[in-house]
Amino acid sequence: MTKVSHDVRGEHPVSGELEQVRVRVPAKINLALSVAPLGEDGYHQLATVFHAVSLTDEIIVRRSDEPGIRLAMKGEGSEDLPTDEGNLAVRAARLLQTTYPDLTEGGLDIEVRKQIPIAGGMAGGSSNAAGVLLACAMLWDLDTSPDDLHDLASRLGSDVPFALVGGNALGTGRGTELVPMLSRGTYHWVLAMAHEGLSTVDVYRHFDRVGVSTGPEVSEELLTAIASGDVEQVARNLHNDLEAPAVDLRPELGEVLAAGRSGGALGGVLSGSGPTCAFLAASEGAAMDLAATLSHHPHVRTVKRATGPAPGARPIG
Ligand code: C5P
Repeated sequence: MTKVSHDVRGEHPVSGELEQVRVRVPAKINLALSVAPLGEDGYHQLATVFHAVSLTDEIIVRRSDEPGIRLAMKGEGSEDLPTDEGNLAVRAARLLQTTYPDLTEGGLDIEVRKQIPIAGGMAGGSSNAAGVLLACAMLWDLDTSPDDLHDLASRLGSDVPFALVGGNALGTGRGTELVPMLSRGTYHWVLAMAHEGLSTVDVYRHFDRVGVSTGPEVSEELLTAIASGDVEQVARNLHNDLEAPAVDLRPELGEVLAAGRSGGALGGVLSGSGPTCAFLAASEGAAMDLAATLSHHPHVRTVKRATGPAPGARPIG
């Protein structure tokens, strides 16, 4: 690799290589999540509609003279997350290093500024991994095509590839096979965060015990509604096979979903494996009213508003 030498102030690499890269990555909601029975590979085949929203995390990667990968996380609850190989963001950087050993030498500092809820069912960890892949590919000037990044992302987790592309996409297989979907208009979401996170694995295991599978298949009505921009029809067709098992594990989520649905939302659904509940509102004003109502709910830790669809992982200045 090219050795980077620094100018007298030690700020800028003389070779013209980037010294740091910042990217923004979105959270996701599944407008539909239809889960097949457990497969022999230990995963469930899915048919899902991913929808990226404007709730984002920021990731900064920097070259370092100190060897190794260091991760620092900022944001509510992030102090409880692992900062070693147990964190998908570190695994993403490590995966690039093992795939491109000659181009990725030297130390790396990763900083993640979190707004996406932790263990919230909104793919926060997955989107951080996607962001690290993109940011490090730029930092190390790797000649990665979108397909290369997609393949690497698939190896890290089921939700990682979608975070690279954002927008709306139909996901099949484990969720990693993606077909982008055109949509019209902007959706206004109210996101009710729970006091405690839920483990994706636990929810899938409970689905294996008590869940009812609808497929894997996404309803034609939902796909038509997305294409035509009919928000009310989208709201009527929000569906998640993991919702009933998650509510069985955490009955209070049923109360939150009921409160949102009766509190003015066009529709509501558990986001991914939960526990975040996502409510679609008719307008920005309706979303503000609903957010105010839900913020008083005893089983809601905090409420955030977001719009979608939002772009996938992208560099910021
Ligand atoms: O792919 P990822 O590591 O995010 O998945 C976490 C866990 O969720 C898996 O180990 C598996 O137990 C479960 N899962 C599944 N079927 C999927 C996606 C995830 O069973 N399609």
